[in-house]
Amino acid sequence: MDTTYKQLVDMEWRKQDNRKTQLYSKSVIILVTVATVLLVSMALYNLLTPRVSSSPNAPSSNLRLPQGKSCSDPCNIVLVESIPEGLEFNSTTTHPSIFQAWLNLMAEARSSLDIASFYWTLTNKDTGTHEPTALQGETILKKLTQLSGKLSVRIAVNTPQETQPQDNLQLLSDSGADIRTVNMRELTSGVLHTKFWIVDKKHIYIGSANMDWRSLTQVKELGAVVYNCSCLAADLGKIFEAYWFLGESQSIPSPWPASFSTLYNENTPLQLQLNNTPSSVYLSSSPPSFCASGRTPDIQSILSVMDDARSYIYIAVMNYLPTMEFSHPKKYWADIDTQLRRVAYERRVKVRMLISCWASTQPVMFSFLKSLASVYDPKSKLDIQVRLFVVPATPKQKEIPFARVNHNKYMVTDKIAYIGTSNWSGDYFVRTAGSAMVVNQTESLSLEPTVQSQLKAVFERDWSSEYSTPLTQHSNLKHLC
Ligand SMILES: *[C@@H]1O[C@H](CO)[C@@H](O)[C@H](O)[C@H]1NC(C)=O
Ligand SMILES: *[C@@H]1O[C@H](CO)[C@@H](O)[C@H](O)[C@H]1NC(C)=O
Ligand SMILES: *[C@@H]1O[C@H](CO)[C@@H](O)[C@H](O)[C@H]1NC(C)=O
Ligand SMILES: *[C@@H]1O[C@H](CO)[C@@H](O)[C@H](O)[C@H]1NC(C)=O
Repeated sequence: MDTTYKQLVDMEWRKQDNRKTQLYSKSVIILVTVATVLLVSMALYNLLTPRVSSSPNAPSSNLRLPQGKSCSDPCNIVLVESIPEGLEFNSTTTHPSIFQAWLNLMAEARSSLDIASFYWTLTNKDTGTHEPTALQGETILKKLTQLSGKLSVRIAVNTPQETQPQDNLQLLSDSGADIRTVNMRELTSGVLHTKFWIVDKKHIYIGSANMDWRSLTQVKELGAVVYNCSCLAADLGKIFEAYWFLGESQSIPSPWPASFSTLYNENTPLQLQLNNTPSSVYLSSSPPSFCASGRTPDIQSILSVMDDARSYIYIAVMNYLPTMEFSHPKKYWADIDTQLRRVAYERRVKVRMLISCWASTQPVMFSFLKSLASVYDPKSKLDIQVRLFVVPATPKQKEIPFARVNHNKYMVTDKIAYIGTSNWSGDYFVRTAGSAMVVNQTESLSLEPTVQSQLKAVFERDWSSEYSTPLTQHSNLKHLC
């Protein structure tokens, strides 16, 4: 996965950087003009409230959109996980498997299935393996080909490289699926990294799992399914339609046509019943150039969820780097890092970061993580802690390429559950297509715990498990991963 990504995003840096610089200077001029006008008309108080990092496309916090229509659908949300073969937790916290969730979604499908995806390797043949645990992936592919003949199946996928296996896509296409490749390398020098499903414009899945058999049995993944929720599905549909459009046009509209815009965002989330509990929900998207009017860019949603936390922020991501890791020349990118240090310092928010460690982890990641973990002093209530999660592997499991890793991408605070599809380094928010669902359920009226508390339990299970090790200034990583 690592090399693939690098190869995919390598070439066009300089061209893009120049173009971006011009774009940014234009945006800066526009922003300055707008800000001046606002300064005259608004109370100084509003403007001086410390809102961190606003991207050029971010909906202005001062803009009052009409309060989002509320949704009367009986939406039902379920957290879903892939737990790698052999990984066992001493815990009662368990969730249905992503494999089962995908089977359920296909069983529900009556008219349409839209899938946004990075790459497709659902069979042993694709990975040159002979693993019994590829069966789940192969089953998914088989069911998808059956559906492709019966109803509208649309697949948006990152333009594959010649070296990548394309058998799955060929098979699906031959079975009647409609496939569009999105050339992210040309569009943004990134990749289409989003992973979500929309079924019958009514049920959705979003999460970390790729269309890869390993994501069902050999890689640790987390996602969410929302059933019976056409309001949310319609909004995710707009993000899908943007990829679908780009697959055809191969150029990014600016501005996006009104049909892609949304009312639901950070400031005016969708009000709905989730598991019989009043909730507010919105979907964020990256990169900012893919955000039509009203859409909160993914980085902005992460920063605002952190800003909003009062007691704790728990983060589980595979990769964490305050850099544009795929950029040449090297570039520092500290939006998230700064926000974490800020809330830890200004509000004494407790920060816990569970990061993955495997053979392909870049050593520089640990230098930056150690730096974050040094923001720790119980006397002054500074409390950032980092742990590394290692998925153990038997000699046989070690032979499976790019498996046995915690691929989660979520965050949970005392108020919010954030479920995303991006690694946490600059590239994913600036050049790469990803998306996230942000759920706010302040109190549960039903007997079922809120999504926030369920996600917190997942985090706590993993954090305190035997697979996680505290990162200290003296950690010897050679022995760990
Ligand atoms: C996330 O980061 C890891 C480590 O660099 C990489 O292997 C993986 O490919 C990334 N995700 C994607 C699909 O780019
Ligand atoms: C599992 O957890 C319980 C309760 O925390 C503990 O008493 C028990 O020793 C644990 N067992 C193992 C195998 O770690
Ligand atoms: C969705 O709604 C239908 C009809 O109201 C119901 O039968 C079904 O159980 C619901 N599905 C879920 C997963 O809640
Ligand atoms: C969560 O929802 C509650 C109730 O609607 C609201 O008061 C609160 O401001 C929301 N929090 C965030 C972070 O959006």
